Amino acid sequence: MRKIILDTDPGCDDAMAIAYAFCHPQIELLALTTVFGNINVGYSTRNAQFILETLGATKVAVAKGAAVPSVQTPLPPADFVHGADGIGNVYPGSTPDKPAEVTINLNPDARHAVVEELDAADFIIASARANPGEITLVAVGPLTNIAEAYRREPQLPTLVAGLVIMGGTVDEPGNVTPLAEANFFNDPHAADSLMAGDWPMTLIGLDVTHKIMLGDSALKRMDNNAGQTGSLLWESSRFYVDFYMTKSVVDNPPERQCAMHDAAAIAYVLIPDAFEVQSGPARVIPDGMASGQLAIDRKGYDYGTLHWQDRPATHACMAVDSERVREHFLQTIIEHHIR
Ligand code: BDR
Ligand code: CA
Repeated sequence: MRKIILDTDPGCDDAMAIAYAFCHPQIELLALTTVFGNINVGYSTRNAQFILETLGATKVAVAKGAAVPSVQTPLPPADFVHGADGIGNVYPGSTPDKPAEVTINLNPDARHAVVEELDAADFIIASARANPGEITLVAVGPLTNIAEAYRREPQLPTLVAGLVIMGGTVDEPGNVTPLAEANFFNDPHAADSLMAGDWPMTLIGLDVTHKIMLGDSALKRMDNNAGQTGSLLWESSRFYVDFYMTKSVVDNPPERQCAMHDAAAIAYVLIPDAFEVQSGPARVIPDGMASGQLAIDRKGYDYGTLHWQDRPATHACMAVDSERVREHFLQTIIEHHIR
């Protein structure tokens, strides 16, 4: 059994990751810690509660985290990707421009009904100290909370079983600039500070997530066979798929489709041998026109520059068995959903 804390900015693909982690019998999902990113942190926290309620995940805590990046000025939310409400305008009355101010009915006995008193960074630290070496942090939003937890507790890398990050890109073009992936672009200073730590860390970036596309036929399979869990993933992906059909991630796609980015980080926890990694010291460029770029020294040359020296190796996934990951995700949701 793997204990996981999922740091997230839900997010249409975040919803896929949350459902995947909650449904898989080998994962104990302890908490969602929330962060700004796809949407402001107020909505991302509400979305986290709404998704857990829909899944029937009564024992999963929610702790609210950062509203803004650690250093830079916040960027506008990605409402053109994830809808005005952050999860594809699923709330009744939401429009592409304006999220509905709905009140969500939460099971009062569920842990997620009340947001934790500790903020996300302190929640992560307290959980890691209480379960040394047992918790895997999976971060699928801007890295502000994880970096803040590391700043407050420098021993955090030795207190966790692993840190799996959906973020960055090495060879694949970026999705917010030609060089940068969105989670790193939203808080490059936070991402770079994590690359300096001696974490048991793996990056799941666009090099692999753009290879695992999810078609409408797969999403419909979940809608038809996975109760309200599958229906949530179908409905929340309508706007998101529309966005992806305006992008040429894949040339001439056989059907309407989207990327399942954040869910790939959960797949790495469960079936790491479906991925191939390359390693080396890494930096994230903090500003300028290359802001958010992940730069890994994969050659180990003596470049004679200081910036990559004395940094431990970071491991970045560069190849993936896409079909295996996609089917593992679908089968997990279809076979193990509880609602
Ligand atoms: C990442 O950015 C967000 O839009 C997604 O939720 C994912 O975490 C992909 O670049
Ligand atoms: Ca995300």
